[in-house]
Amino acid sequence: MTMLAAAPDAGRGADTGDGQRRLKVSIAGGSGYVGGELLRLLLAHPRVEVAQVTSRRLAGRFVHQAHPNLRRQTMLQFVPPEALEPCDLLFVSMPHGEGLKLAETLFALAPRVIDLSADHRLRQAGDYPLWYGWEHPAPRRLESFVYGLPELHRAEIAGAMHVSGTGCMAAAAIIGLWPLFRHGLVENDPVVIEGKFGSSAGGADPSPAGHHPERASVIRTYEPVGHRHTAEIAQELGAAAAATGAPASFPPKVHLTATAVDAVRGLQCCCHVFLKDPALEERDIWRVYREAYGREPFIRLVKERHGAHRYPDPKVMAGSNYCDVGFACDPHSRRLVVIAALDNLMKGAAGNGVQSMNVMMGWPEVEGLTFAGLHPC
Ligand SMILES: NC(=O)c1ccc[n+]([C@@H]2O[C@H](COP(=O)([O-])OP(=O)(O)OC[C@H]3O[C@@H](n4cnc5c(N)ncnc54)[C@H](OP(=O)(O)O)[C@@H]3O)[C@@H](O)[C@H]2O)c1
Repeated sequence: MTMLAAAPDAGRGADTGDGQRRLKVSIAGGSGYVGGELLRLLLAHPRVEVAQVTSRRLAGRFVHQAHPNLRRQTMLQFVPPEALEPCDLLFVSMPHGEGLKLAETLFALAPRVIDLSADHRLRQAGDYPLWYGWEHPAPRRLESFVYGLPELHRAEIAGAMHVSGTGCMAAAAIIGLWPLFRHGLVENDPVVIEGKFGSSAGGADPSPAGHHPERASVIRTYEPVGHRHTAEIAQELGAAAAATGAPASFPPKVHLTATAVDAVRGLQCCCHVFLKDPALEERDIWRVYREAYGREPFIRLVKERHGAHRYPDPKVMAGSNYCDVGFACDPHSRRLVVIAALDNLMKGAAGNGVQSMNVMMGWPEVEGLTFAGLHPC
């Protein structure tokens, strides 16, 4: 199967113009929604050359046939997965479980792998049968992976060859709650998270539930209990709590409910937690968030007194790599409501993956990701 290198109109050479060789990056599973966003970001990235991108269904076709927004951005054509050649870094954006079936081949292709599926997110192999219904076929490989949230694991990502992605809802919930758990400010039980997500979170494969007359206008609770992202959220918040000296035998009891809403992109997690110290005030909570995220390039604190945009709303983040976080203290109880929102395909998947790549490579973390979302859209 032949493949064109970068498009003439993309103006890409093998070096960056200052004598540095571009990183040769390929994508396994490039015809899906996350693959499309990876392409949009990587084609514009100043230090990257997109080498190959796979699709079984569209092998031999131009990538703009799956991603019409990329017309004139590249003349790359999809190749089938078996035509992948060695590269410097491989992104895997295949459905969970499917990449594992090809793992021996995929991992032999590149020294660096960023797997955006769920296949390498959980540290304990025993969590896979519990949450995914299958035994992990390569539990030893889990040890080589770092959970790919730079805000929590920047130093480990910088030294890693293998980085996972995050669940999109998990990313929002973890970013929203992590500063509180890191300081042991909230009870471990209950941690109640209401996640609302748009249709692109389900991927590009059509399904009866995603058919437009069925999906449009919904407020459809999809998983009231048992959502798989629960495992990642408990894993990461549990590690933060354990670092404060909390017993590892009492990890946070995360209760996640996922509801499909009438949007294409974006998700919001509304998290209900309970302060240990009733004397804590809003300004104390502000201080905690500012200390945790004040210097983070992609996390914005959003809490306004007036106007339409008082708390995080994914609508204003479409296409950007931001995660917005806000909160409110219930004056009648110890309940603290934390609201976190992001674009599921960006900070929830591809954008966060590119941010991890930048960290891994020792490049400026924001490179190729500095744009704002669209407003209005
Ligand atoms: N969508 C989100 O918001 C989101 C957020 C965070 C993480 N993720 C994760 O990212 C991954 C990709 O998600 P997505 O939404 O982009 O899914 P998608 O739209 O369904 O795309 C899946 C991609 O994998 C390829 N593929 C499927 N089965 C394959 C197989 N057996 N062998 C080789 N290639 C195969 C598909 O192409 P062909 O069928 O043409 O080969 C397609 O390119 C998933 O693991 C998902 O859980 C998604």
